[in-house]
Amino acid sequence: MQTAMQNPKAAVTAALAQTPPMPARLGEEILCVKNVQRGFQKTQGELLVLDDVNLALREGEIVGMLGRSGSGKSTLLRIIAGLIEPTGGEVTYLGKPLEGPAKGVAMVFQTFALFPWLTVLQNVEAGLEAQGVGASERRKRALAAIDLIGLDGFENAYPRELSGGMRQRVGFARALVVDPTLLLMDEPFSALDVLTAETLRTDLLDLWTQGRMPIKSVLIVTHNIEEAVFMCDRILVLSSNPGRVIAEIKVPFKHPRNRLDPVFRQLVDDIYAKMTARQTDEAAKKGLQLGSRLPQVSTNLMAGLIETLAAAPYHGRADMPEIGRSLQLEVDDLFPIAEALQHLDFAEIREGDIFLTPQARVFAELGTQERKMMFAEHLLQHVPLAARITKVLNERPGHRAPRVRFEQELEDFLSDNAAEETLDAVINWGRYGEIFSYNDKTEIFSLADVES
Ligand SMILES: Nc1ncnc2c1ncn2[C@@H]1O[C@H](COP(=O)(O)OP(=O)(O)OP(=O)(O)O)[C@@H](O)[C@H]1O
Ligand SMILES: [Mg+2]
Repeated sequence: MQTAMQNPKAAVTAALAQTPPMPARLGEEILCVKNVQRGFQKTQGELLVLDDVNLALREGEIVGMLGRSGSGKSTLLRIIAGLIEPTGGEVTYLGKPLEGPAKGVAMVFQTFALFPWLTVLQNVEAGLEAQGVGASERRKRALAAIDLIGLDGFENAYPRELSGGMRQRVGFARALVVDPTLLLMDEPFSALDVLTAETLRTDLLDLWTQGRMPIKSVLIVTHNIEEAVFMCDRILVLSSNPGRVIAEIKVPFKHPRNRLDPVFRQLVDDIYAKMTARQTDEAAKKGLQLGSRLPQVSTNLMAGLIETLAAAPYHGRADMPEIGRSLQLEVDDLFPIAEALQHLDFAEIREGDIFLTPQARVFAELGTQERKMMFAEHLLQHVPLAARITKVLNERPGHRAPRVRFEQELEDFLSDNAAEETLDAVINWGRYGEIFSYNDKTEIFSLADVES
């Protein structure tokens, strides 16, 4: 039958090869980001979140931006929206340097960001009011946007009376009412249930393909690979620490797209492998240091992944996208678990495949108590922060130390949030391995319970 069914990889390559070459005259450049850098001041110097970011958005395209949590996607979007300034480089919008929020650039937020005390109509009008549009014109345009986005009949409702999907429609109407040239969206569907999100995506794509909005270009931030492949013409992948555009993937499919089409699936898999391979290679190369950020992953999830991988049909080795699908984990959920196993020397990740180490295969066979002992050994050997905490506790009279002692040390390297999360991860792991104990109320580490 279809070659696509038999060999999706070849089909994607063929489809990509058949994509007509870019027309001689590309769409007008709407926005250009050049060598953009952004740091945030921390107690011990600057945390570089974005470094040397380059991208251009052209007329007629929907561009996706994928990246892991904390890679700086929202920061970059806020820079492009003119809400914050880069610490280096420049952004031009319609050929002119961007200085503050530009007319014609609108943003849709993940959390809807509606005014709870205003009705739907008033929420949609609010953006126009800020632009100084007169009352009757405001009303006319707000009603048109409400109509366009399918909120007809809800003009006088308050946000709290609406479902999540309807609230986000208000978010869209508020962005569309200003007739934006560039629409920015920060994970606009991630707070919605699966069905609502899909309806809204499809509605938005219909408006776009039918040319019913004056928007010339759309940039959508997401960490959902499928969503990016479903909606975008081009996908940019942002690395972490610091964030930088490390890959650009063209999506050669026409709308409407079919998620079940083997060539669609294959492209999702390819991007998945590209993201995980690159990130885990980098993590492996760097190795853990005292100030390394630890993924917040429970020991249950780690043990679960080891068990699944050790058993049939995997027998110690699996394709990452495949194991993700079979465990129903998104890349953002699976990746940290794999990364934690890699840090602890229980797994290795190479080119989108995950392999258990011989120790992990042994671990899978052990009983509860022996597992804990083996985990403790790996923890002390491979996670410098765990070793550091036990060393400090051993040296201190009373073998106790407050959390803040380690928090301060970590904040020299990490943002406050990352330091918190890293400590929480190591507490969770240390408790499981019984190398120290931690009292949540007093926030004190000790060896006491462990020794007794
Ligand atoms: N105003 C700020 N002050 C200090 N640090 C900040 C600030 N805003 C963001 N950061 C830091 O910048 C990094 C990137 O944050 P950002 O919100 O841009 O990431 P993201 O890719 O959008 O993540 P997510 O997928 O979780 O939304 C994080 O380490 C965050 O703590
Ligand atoms: Mg974000």
